This record gives sequence, C-alpha cells and structure tokens, in this order.
Amino acid sequence: MNWKDKYNKMKMTADEAVKLIKDGDTVVLGHAMGEPQELVEALSKNYQNYKDVEIVQMVPFTGELSKEKYEGHFIYNSLFAGGSTRKAVQNGFAEFTPVFFHEVPKLFREKLIDVNVAMIMVTPPDEHGYCSFGVSIDYTRPAAQEADIVIAQVNKFMPRTLGNSMIHINEIDAIVESHHKLPELQPPAIGDIEKKIGEYCASLIKDEAVLQLGIGAIPDAVLTFLGDKKNLALHTEMFSDGVIDLIENGVINNSKKSYMPNLSVSTFLMGTQRLYDFVDNNPSIYMASVDFVNNPAVISKNRRITSLNSAIQVDLTGQVVAGTMGHKIFSGVGGQVDFVRGAAMANEGVSIIAFPSTASKGKISKIVPDITAGSMVTTTNHDVDYIVTEFGIAKMRGKTLKKRAEALINIAHPDFRDELIAAYEERYNCTFPR
Ligand code: COA
Repeated sequence: MNWKDKYNKMKMTADEAVKLIKDGDTVVLGHAMGEPQELVEALSKNYQNYKDVEIVQMVPFTGELSKEKYEGHFIYNSLFAGGSTRKAVQNGFAEFTPVFFHEVPKLFREKLIDVNVAMIMVTPPDEHGYCSFGVSIDYTRPAAQEADIVIAQVNKFMPRTLGNSMIHINEIDAIVESHHKLPELQPPAIGDIEKKIGEYCASLIKDEAVLQLGIGAIPDAVLTFLGDKKNLALHTEMFSDGVIDLIENGVINNSKKSYMPNLSVSTFLMGTQRLYDFVDNNPSIYMASVDFVNNPAVISKNRRITSLNSAIQVDLTGQVVAGTMGHKIFSGVGGQVDFVRGAAMANEGVSIIAFPSTASKGKISKIVPDITAGSMVTTTNHDVDYIVTEFGIAKMRGKTLKKRAEALINIAHPDFRDELIAAYEERYNCTFPR
C-alpha cells in the first residue's frame, strides 16, 4: 500500500491508539519536550483498563504516569529523575534503572528492556513519507526501531530537525494527529556566582574547542564569556537557546572540527520557541540517536572536545556525585560519564565539572571529606579532570590524592575550609600547606 494511503488508514484518536497496549506490556515513552502529551493523557484517562504496564522514560516532562494513583495499572521505570517524578522515585513508588545515556538503546536491542510499544511524537511526513523526531531523537528513535508497535503523535509544531533523525510512515502502526506548541524551557537567571564560575570555565575553553554544554545557569554563564573565542564547535548531548547567538555571530562555526565538520551535533533539545524555530529545517544541525552522539568512542573523535557538567557533591579524592543525595535519587548519570570518558579519550580533550561551592543557601558545602553514605559515584576520581567553583579551578588529572585534596580545599567555600583542612590533616598525617 502507498504510504499516503497507509497514513490515512492508520489515523485514529488517542483513545483508540492506546488500546493497542496490552496488560503487562513495556511502553517506552518519548521524553523531555518530545513527550507525546496527547498519548500520555489518553493513557492516564483510561488507566483503569490496564494492569501492570511498564512505562520507561528518561527525562520526564509531565511525570503524569509516575503518580501513585496508577498503582497496579502502571509501573513507572525512570532512567533519569526530574522534578515531576523525583518524589515517586524517592518514595519507592516508581522504579529507577541506572544506565549511561548512550547505552539506553542497547538495553532495547538486547531485550534487557523488551520494548512492546513505543509512544513517540514526530513531525508530519514530508513528500517522501519521512517524519522527523524533532527535538528528541536520543533513545526515542532506537525505541521505535525495536518496538513491536509504534504509536506516533503527529504534531505540526514539532520542528523538523535533520541528520539521522527520521522515521518512515511505513515503520509506524498508529497515527494520532494532535497539534500543540512544544513546552518551553526559559533561560535561567544567571547570578554572580554562576558568572564567576562561567568565567573560570571559559578560561579552560580553547579556540577550536568542541563543546558539550548542558542546560542551566552555569552553561549559559559560560557561553556569555565565549564571544572572543575562535572557531568553536558543538558535539553535545543537548543544547538550549544559549548557543544561538554564538552560532549566529560565527563564534560557533564548526569549521575546524576534526569529526563531522560544519555540523552542530546533538541528540535532544530543550529551550524556547526561538530554539525550535532555529533548528527547524536547519541543515547545520545534525541530530542523531544517543548511542551515536553520546558514544564515548564517537565523542573522542573530536579533537579538543570540552565537556561541562555539574555535581551535587565532590569528595577530597575527586569522586563526583551528580545523581543522588545519599540513598535519595535526585536525577541520574545522564550523559555526564559518556562525555567525561569521551573527553578523556580524545586528543586535547577537557572535562569540567562546575558547581557553586555551597548548596541550601550556603548551609552545605558541596566539597566534602567523604561522600554521603548511600550516594552513587557518577564520575570516578580516575576520570575526573577539572573541578570549578566560584573560588577557582582545581586540576585533578595526574595529581596525587594529597595534591587533589589541597586543590579542592582551595576552591571550597571559606566557611567550610577549616573542617576540610582538619579532615585532610587527619587523613594524611601532615599540616595543610597554607
Ligand atoms: N546537599 C544537599 N542539597 C543539595 C546538594 C548537596 N550536596 N547539592 C545540591 N543540592 C540541592 C540544591 O540546594 C538545590 O535545591 P533547591 O532547588 O531547593 O535550591 C537542588 O539540590 C539542585 O541543585 P543545583 O545546584 O541547582 O543543581 P542543578 O539543577 O544545577 O543540577 C545536577 C545539578 C548535578 C543535579 C545536574 O547537573 C544533574 O542532574 N546531573 C546529572 C548528570 C549529568 O550531569 N548529566 C549530563 C547532562 S544529562
């Protein structure tokens, strides 16, 4: 059958489409701004028709299906907790699976997570029958490739991103046309602390560096200090509005990239409508699945790859905790280790872990003698490279444990240095060099 006829035949309401899901199925749900909200609403409305359906998702948007009221109907399996699912994960109602972002598709391929149904959101088809996954290729496209059944919400507001980012109508089983503007993530406010951290981080970024920047005030602050750099490039898990000005000004031009030159490479996007308009049909933006973009071997092909991530806690040996607070899951590993490893393997690679020196309005130091019991180490002290706070830069790679501790104490908040020094002196049986 011609794909256009197939498209028309597959069109149905969301309520009809979710009837394709059976009790006990595993459903992989698109995430972040690519979460197919119409399909989520239909599932939640009809929840009493389901028993033990597992919902797998990375970055949550609505978090709707993780709610306790669906107990017995849906089991929410989080691969990365966010604001809307954190409580459910922490109180044990939702499940949590630790996994490197780039290995999520492998879980599907090797049937460690056996995908019965993929619920995705895509653009309308082009003249050849291809729909773009738009802002979210990541694990969503691999899930659709592995699923027995693919239910697609077709949304004309989804930007049509290019790269290896498409699915053909022949690979879809149910179409639900539902058009709504994508949710927006507003740029964060950048405070003085973030500005200082941004300036330090920018000093570590060389001309021709290939950047991996996440979301948040620190990456955005770093970007404001890059105006004088030359020939920067992007190979990043995600990006946001912050890079648009630098691309438009030619500071990020990908011209000297050793791998995939002339292209900004990414696997998902979160930002405002300005970002969604910017990436729409933009041939310089190459979007692809996360097992490619975040694969450390691929990342390492980028000379001067420079990754920037954050942390909840760092101990005096340089172990980085980024996803947990004690036994409580806060987020997950995400792509942090993918990029830290990739940078470690690359020619002139640099990885930066940057964060304000304190949390909870200055009451807690993020640099601590020992990580909190129960916390999971995200980046090990074998891989850690630079640690940055508003008090400076501490180089870890190649340093002894003692030198690391000294460097970290020197960038800790002054209010906490005495207790860190006491721990240092007891541990190493020597006086702290002042
Ligand atoms: N002890 C207690 N509370 C802490 C804390 C600590 N050591 N560190 C942070 N917090 C609290 C903060 O006070 C803040 O609480 P509030 O919202 O009530 O003010 C909250 O935790 C978030 O802290 P913040 O510093 O604003 O974190 P962030 O939003 O910048 O996120 C990470 C930092 C590490 C959690 C985040 O980068 C992440 O999830 N990383 C995961 C791995 C990764 O880096 N992946 C790559 C991109 S996917």
